[in-house]
Amino acid sequence: MLESVQNYYGKVLQHSNDLKTSACCDVSSMPDWLKPLLAKLHPQVTERYYGCGLVAPAVLEGARVLDLGSGSGRDCYLLAQLVGHQGQVVGVDMTVEQLAVANAHLQYHAEQFGFANVEFRQGYIENLDALGLSDASFDVIVSNCVINLSPDKDSVLREAYRLLKKGGELYFNDFHNLAKRHGFADPRLVEDRPIAITDPKLAAKLGNTRFYSATYRLFKLDDLEPACEDHGQAVIYHGGIADAPHTFVLDKHHHIETGKVFPVCGNTYRMLHDSRFAPYFSFIGDFSQHFGIFQGCGSVLPYDNDNGTANLGACC
Ligand SMILES: C[S@@+](CC[C@H](N)C(=O)[O-])C[C@H]1O[C@@H](n2cnc3c(N)ncnc32)[C@H](O)[C@@H]1O
Repeated sequence: MLESVQNYYGKVLQHSNDLKTSACCDVSSMPDWLKPLLAKLHPQVTERYYGCGLVAPAVLEGARVLDLGSGSGRDCYLLAQLVGHQGQVVGVDMTVEQLAVANAHLQYHAEQFGFANVEFRQGYIENLDALGLSDASFDVIVSNCVINLSPDKDSVLREAYRLLKKGGELYFNDFHNLAKRHGFADPRLVEDRPIAITDPKLAAKLGNTRFYSATYRLFKLDDLEPACEDHGQAVIYHGGIADAPHTFVLDKHHHIETGKVFPVCGNTYRMLHDSRFAPYFSFIGDFSQHFGIFQGCGSVLPYDNDNGTANLGACC
């Protein structure tokens, strides 16, 4: 399995246009605020982008970020600009050809950004220990169209949980129940969209099988409850997060408007209170009362099947 994936991404594919599905999004669907950052990237890096979904969560300045399956480095070089000179981005990939493209342009991007804060390591995302990455050393882990390819997803999720600091989050595509098994108690769906199989031969073989791209955020928080419980709590978003002056989008079901008292379940309260988002919010209530299950928190499975019209913002 690993060998055939390596062969596909290293040798078969040479360009995003070689992909056989619509999983990879074009630049037009990228949020406007990311476009100037994308424009700074070397064309050889963007030409070998094979990802989907959105992997640029808010409030990254100064963060240490790990990209699992970083490919040619497109997301790493985008994130490098978001974490800034005090942050760091580490990309891990197993495929020599992809890493060669990523590494070839380290100097180019350092000059573009005015600082060097990216490094790439060759290895397997199932065994990050072998790369010397230590426990609780990353604020955010992202992964773009990679974990679905792993033959040992249990190890990937276990490693991600180990490497995250408390309050840190894994921002990636797919695998709700697996995530729960590894301690990410309340996976939050950020966006989803159907993937079209554009290769007619492949489509004929697949029949009625449907595929979706889904982006999740998973917080490493010890005290999350198995269900969304109503403790009578609320939050107020005060603005201040770049590119979210009017609304902060935690996930598909939480569009939190600036200045509005926004009732939340206990888990949402903790995701905002015990993470890097806390400075942008006021918090009302505590856990001393319990009113039962919180209605309307939402965890939609299967995903929307509406050609993407319900998506939040744009996919990357
Ligand atoms: C679909 S591409 C996505 C690449 C990149 N995230 C992007 O958005 O362009 C999948 C990448 O994951 C890498 N990959 C897949 N399985 C892996 C594994 N088990 N360990 C390390 N890298 C892996 C492949 O080498 C390939 O570069």
